[in-house]
Amino acid sequence: MSGKIPNNVDLSSDRKLQRALESWLPKYLDWWKEMGPEGFQEDQIYLRTAVSVETDGWAHFDHVKMPEYRWGIFLTPNEKERTIGFGDDMGKPVWNEVPGDVRKELRRLIVTQADTEPASVEQQRLLGQTAPSLYDMRNLFQVNVEEGRHLWAMVYLLMQYFGRDGREEAEDLLLRRSGNEDSPRILETFNQPIEDWLSFFCFTTFTDRDGKYQLGALAESAFDPLARSTRFMLTEEAHHLFVGEKGIARVIRRTADLMKNAPEGDPREVGAIPLQIVQKWVNFWYTSSLDLFGSEDSSNSATFFASGLKGRWAEGKEGVYDDHKALEGTYRVEVPKEEGGFEDRDIPLRRAMNLVLRDSYVDDCKKVMQRWNRELEKSGLSERLYLPSDRFARSQGLYAGMPFDPQGNLLKRDEFEAKKAQWLPTPEDREYVKSCMVQCKEPGEYANWIAPPKKGINGQAVDFEYVKFTRPN
Ligand SMILES: [Fe+2]
Ligand SMILES: [Fe+2]
Repeated sequence: MSGKIPNNVDLSSDRKLQRALESWLPKYLDWWKEMGPEGFQEDQIYLRTAVSVETDGWAHFDHVKMPEYRWGIFLTPNEKERTIGFGDDMGKPVWNEVPGDVRKELRRLIVTQADTEPASVEQQRLLGQTAPSLYDMRNLFQVNVEEGRHLWAMVYLLMQYFGRDGREEAEDLLLRRSGNEDSPRILETFNQPIEDWLSFFCFTTFTDRDGKYQLGALAESAFDPLARSTRFMLTEEAHHLFVGEKGIARVIRRTADLMKNAPEGDPREVGAIPLQIVQKWVNFWYTSSLDLFGSEDSSNSATFFASGLKGRWAEGKEGVYDDHKALEGTYRVEVPKEEGGFEDRDIPLRRAMNLVLRDSYVDDCKKVMQRWNRELEKSGLSERLYLPSDRFARSQGLYAGMPFDPQGNLLKRDEFEAKKAQWLPTPEDREYVKSCMVQCKEPGEYANWIAPPKKGINGQAVDFEYVKFTRPN
């Protein structure tokens, strides 16, 4: 590890690549200062930095200023004689260069993944100002710097393997802006504002979890450098999912606690986040994240699978799938008919790969929901949270724009409009949640609406000084 850019890709032996990355670095830093966490660039944050890919001790923890974070490039080690694990070329050696016939598709996959990384940093840039504790503020910034590193990981692939096109894409990744009308981020979920911490916890639970499954599918790729980059990204991603899931669990615990002082009343009277509000936020972010998987029936997904670019979740794991060619078999979906009702359609398996991946994701989300409901049970509350139907509030695929309720029943349009406020965040809900968001800057201090965590980060206490401010303010 040496030079300006920590790495395990032997950057110092490739002058051309090194120069390209070093000229991108100041542009990246300009972007970070403009679009990264606002107001905390001079403060010392207790962050983990990836320093190698060894399973024991890949990360180093210390207080650092975010602009001085060492964003590095790390790939998991080469597996000798790795072969392609699925699709038409199954069993052939993996690629260490980009084959000409899939160059465009591969570039598109990498750029789409890369674009989500800076997008989420932009979406979250104001949240530090309402952090409910120094512990949470630190977790937010940890997620942010690692999304920055994920951008580095993808930019390395673009610059190393896609020549001039790749360098241009790398520039464009710093030019698009989340939510910008003229030059938005590529995927819609990444253009939605994240203005409160309930949204942040739902985003890290559901949208970062989409990321986990997309990365998992790319970790199977025949293009070995992509597989090895995404495998290491998954290590970091686990922490982002932890932040989201535990964040919501702490909200649930705190609401249950506060309700003991207002057993019949409105949770709002005691400054708690009502569970109905948590459910609405879940409904919004979960369904928006389902959209990220794309259409149920997709010729692109068939191409990606056939050519070995993108596999299924755990494609290479023993005992999960017997058939890695997926030339036979179908996937049944219910398609809404114009005159009302549904008809079954069987999609050839390769064309249904978006759905197959989404199913793995949904199973994972169900487990999260069970853990949250166990938290409710332990707290003695009778309410439970649920995952809405995959037909509800969709903008992509078979059910896009149709008035389904969260149970998946098709309603009349006006009935849906009349009931929508029960299921999705209203301006009043957002107003209330915002009113709860107050910044807590003393070590060990936690905002009223959220319980402290049970444990701190890296063995530190929950009242550890996770953020050291340079200026008292
Ligand atoms: Fe990421
Ligand atoms: Fe993430």
